[in-house]
Amino acid sequence: MAEIVIRNTNERITGDENVRNFLNKYEVLYENWDASKLNTDLQNNFGLTDQQKEEVLKTYDYEIRDLAARRGYQIWDVITLSEQTPDIEEKLAKFEEIHTHAEDEIRAIVAGKGIFVIKATDDVGYFNVELSPGDVISVPENTPHFFTLMENKQIIAVRLFIEKDGWIADPYPDPTFIKQA
Ligand SMILES: [Fe+2]
Repeated sequence: MAEIVIRNTNERITGDENVRNFLNKYEVLYENWDASKLNTDLQNNFGLTDQQKEEVLKTYDYEIRDLAARRGYQIWDVITLSEQTPDIEEKLAKFEEIHTHAEDEIRAIVAGKGIFVIKATDDVGYFNVELSPGDVISVPENTPHFFTLMENKQIIAVRLFIEKDGWIADPYPDPTFIKQA
């Protein structure tokens, strides 16, 4: 279950209905998959082989095809990040640059944890969405955001795309953004 932190006030929003209402306000799609469907060997494996990634996709084939049919995604894959990932610190530094995309950015967290930092309105500023296994989120197109890991630095996520090259990051340098929430 996702939780929200509004960075400027440190207000934390918890509870299914509150989280959904908040995200709906900013047109952020939020849904849930059954995290327990994933084989436990895969849940605790943050260095998946290509074959194991295929197993993840097979496990969630119904959910992926349902989302794709509703929202027009054409392709999907699995990413995993952890301290085993080569150059993880450099990758995270790159991730933590605020940007936008011409396409929405949808991620289904199937193991581990992660945070999307998303810009609300100018007066509200940025909020964190802390994601747990089973959380599915989509940042709308042209909305400033970035993604990062939580302290445990472990995640497995399914990504879906409308077009292979539709997910190009346009930098959104924002002097109002304060790094430490
Ligand atoms: Fe992005």
